[in-house]
Amino acid sequence: MDKILVTGGLGFIGSHTVVELQNEGFEVVIIDNLSNSSINVLEGITAISGKSPIFERLELKDKSAVQNFFSKNKDIKGVIHFAASKAVGESVQEPLMYYENNLNTLIYLLQELVSKPDSNFIFSSSCTVYGQADEMPITENAPVKPAESPYGNTKQIGEEIIKDTCKVKPNFKAIALRYFNPIGAHPSAIIGELPIGIPQNLVPFITQTGAGLRETLSVFGDDYPTPDGTCIRDYIHVVDLARAHVIALKRLLNKKNTVNYETFNIGTGVGSSVLEVINSFERVSNKSLNYKIADRREGDVISAYADTTKANTQLGWKAKSSLDDAMLSAWKWEKNVRKL
Ligand code: WQD
Repeated sequence: MDKILVTGGLGFIGSHTVVELQNEGFEVVIIDNLSNSSINVLEGITAISGKSPIFERLELKDKSAVQNFFSKNKDIKGVIHFAASKAVGESVQEPLMYYENNLNTLIYLLQELVSKPDSNFIFSSSCTVYGQADEMPITENAPVKPAESPYGNTKQIGEEIIKDTCKVKPNFKAIALRYFNPIGAHPSAIIGELPIGIPQNLVPFITQTGAGLRETLSVFGDDYPTPDGTCIRDYIHVVDLARAHVIALKRLLNKKNTVNYETFNIGTGVGSSVLEVINSFERVSNKSLNYKIADRREGDVISAYADTTKANTQLGWKAKSSLDDAMLSAWKWEKNVRKL
C-alpha cells in the first residue's frame, strides 16, 4: 500500500489522521519536531490501529534536513501537511516565528515535492481565511478577507503558495482543507487534544473546568447579534475531520480531482453558540458547568459555519458526528487523561 508522509503527525488532528490512514492500510511516516506534541502519542496510535507508524524527529525549518529526508524516502506517494504553529493570540505577539515556522517549512516541502514525477499534497488550512464572512453558511467561493492575525495570514499565504505552484507544476496536485472548529477525541479516549498550559480554545477549557482543573469558564461576550448573544461556530468531531483527509488524499492518488488545486470547507454545516456548547457539555456529562460572562475577545468573528455542499457532493465526504457525540468524546478523553 502507498507510503504517506504526515508532518505534525503526533499533533491533535495529525494523530487522528494517522489512525484513519493506517485503518485504510496506508503505510505512514510521521515527522514531527515535538515542539507541541508528545512522543507518547505514537504508542496511542499503535494501540488503536494495531500498527506502529515510522517516526522521525525532524525540524522542517532545517532545509538540508528536509532535503536529506526526501533523498532517503523516494517512495512517498502523498503528503498530508499539519506541522505548523496554530495559536492565534501567540501569532500576534510572535509574527516572525509564525511566518518562519509556517511558511519556510511549507516552501522547503514543496521544493522537494515538485521535483518528483507525481506528487499529492493535502494542506491543513482553516476557515480563518474567510475572516467574518458576509453570508452564512460559508461557501468556498466566499472572499478571502484580510487576515485578523499572522496565524490566519500564514494560512492564506500558504494557500497562495500552493496554488501558484500547482499552476506551473502539472505533476503536483493539491487540496486545501479549510477546517472549521475541530473538537473531541478518538472514541477509545487513548488519543485526544493535549493543550499545553491554559487552553485557548473553548472545548478543552470546558472539559478542564468540568474536571476541576479550571475554576470557571469565561464566556467571551454575550452581547453579539446572535440569538443568545454568544458567538457561533461549526464544531466538527476530529475523527470526521481526519476521515476527510484520507478521502481527499485518495481523490488525488486515484486522480479523481478535476483541477490541480482544490479547496473544501470541512465542517458539519451546523452553527452552535458558546452557550449551546456549554449546554451540550452539561447534557453529556450530567454536570453543571461553572461559567461567567466576560468581555469580548479581540479578533473573534461573530459567526462562522460551513456550507458543506462541495465536500459532500464532490469530495464524497460528510460529517457523521453531532455536537453531543463530539463533546462526549472530549469529556471521556479528559476523564481518561486525568484518571477521573
Ligand atoms: C470558539 C468560541 C470564543 C474560549 C480558533 C482559531 C482557528 C482554529 C480553532 C487553529 C469563540 C469562545 C473560547 C474561552 C470562550 N485554530 N470562547 N471562552 O477562535 O473559533 O478558532 O481555534 O486552526 O483557526 O481561530 O475557536 O475555541 O478559541 O473559540 O467564550 O475560554 O468560544 O470567543 O466565540 P476559534 P475557540
